[in-house]
Amino acid sequence: MTKKITVLVCGGGNGAHVTAGLAASRDDIETRVLTTFADEAERWTNIMKENDLRITVDEGDIKSGESVDFKVKLNCITKDPSKAVPGADVIIFTVPAFAHQSYLEAIEPYIQPNTTIVGMPGQPGFEFQVFDVLKDKAKQCVIMSFESLPWACRIAEFGKFVQILMVKVNLMGCLIRGQSKPSYDPMEAVQRVMGKAPILTQANNYIEPILATKSIIHPPIMYGKWKDWDGKPIEEKPLFYQGLDEEQARYLGGISDELVATAKAIAAQKPEVDLSGVLHLYDWYLRDHKPYIKDTTSLLTVLQTDTAYDGLVHPMKETEDGKFVPDFRYRYLTEDVPNGLVVTKGLAQIAGVPTPYHDEVIAWCQKQLGKEIIVGDELKGKDIGSTRCPQRYGINTMDALVNIM
Ligand code: NAI
Repeated sequence: MTKKITVLVCGGGNGAHVTAGLAASRDDIETRVLTTFADEAERWTNIMKENDLRITVDEGDIKSGESVDFKVKLNCITKDPSKAVPGADVIIFTVPAFAHQSYLEAIEPYIQPNTTIVGMPGQPGFEFQVFDVLKDKAKQCVIMSFESLPWACRIAEFGKFVQILMVKVNLMGCLIRGQSKPSYDPMEAVQRVMGKAPILTQANNYIEPILATKSIIHPPIMYGKWKDWDGKPIEEKPLFYQGLDEEQARYLGGISDELVATAKAIAAQKPEVDLSGVLHLYDWYLRDHKPYIKDTTSLLTVLQTDTAYDGLVHPMKETEDGKFVPDFRYRYLTEDVPNGLVVTKGLAQIAGVPTPYHDEVIAWCQKQLGKEIIVGDELKGKDIGSTRCPQRYGINTMDALVNIM
């Protein structure tokens, strides 16, 4: 019997429902939920008085031996961090990245040494933000950041019913241990919440997942598609991946080239930093999506024929006359620029790698977001504080980047 741990799930959305539900289904985990958003905590608490939380796995076989349809009771759902945080061993953030700052500020006064803080997903820049808000307390904690959510999932009925539509096979995360000495194994603790799938793997260091991030995919495709748009509404929502053209693929490939070049430059200057896990996007698709891809000739054909992306369309808003215009305030830009492309640009800037593709795409994206982040080829715009690039946190040198703790 493993030691019982206390897991606090931060958030109240799709992923938080699943994470809390799975944790609560384990005998050796005490589960709490902290949701500071609107009246979610009160609503969910009231629902739990009369109901259990039902979780189903639509795929059928979760490869984990889990029941595919089960119910749990959540006994502690609160918006009060003073009740939720003390005694929590593992705190899992399962919210969109824009909410990380407010949750970090909420938990900071109550954080104790040897707590594990997990971004699930963390997205690029999560570690910088944790260090910025928790300051010296962060050094006493384990900080983990996973590249995505372990599942595709959605709430069918708030508080009562959540569906897992797909379970990932593997999920990579990084771990910064600092001076902490928890009495439990942090990776095992998070795996215990997940069950047998996905299998959690550990990156060589925290820089590797940033340079291998998939949050670079959406902005260059949006840019290539809409940079010359005439502003007139269109009849149908265009396909995002299947509709990819050569120019969009060139921007995406160019950005991926710049990340590979950045990894090489960092490894050349700091040979002790193993970045062998930073693959070009094309190689990553061939490794992780091969069964879904019909034509492996190039990055363009890979994305056009990846059946995992069948039918996915550009984020669009409907006009009054039933036509469509692109939605530049969708997470493809609002999340993936400040917590993606701008962070990778920041690492390239520190490594001294020129990034013409990053610069051109960020320059267009910042206009759509109404921000000034990049000026020429440098991250020195007045709104740099709304991003999670290392420069925003005063990290400007290779030494500072590598010795983050
Ligand atoms: P969600 O859209 O369900 O999150 C909504 C929740 O975020 C709200 O219920 C609330 O608790 C919190 N929230 C919203 N606005 C807030 C605010 N202003 N202040 C504080 N909290 C606020 O998110 P979901 O689906 O759980 O996804 C979490 C992350 O995982 C996102 O970054 C998403 O892109 C990513 N992801 C989600 C997948 C899915 O299938 N749901 C799949 C892969 C990644």
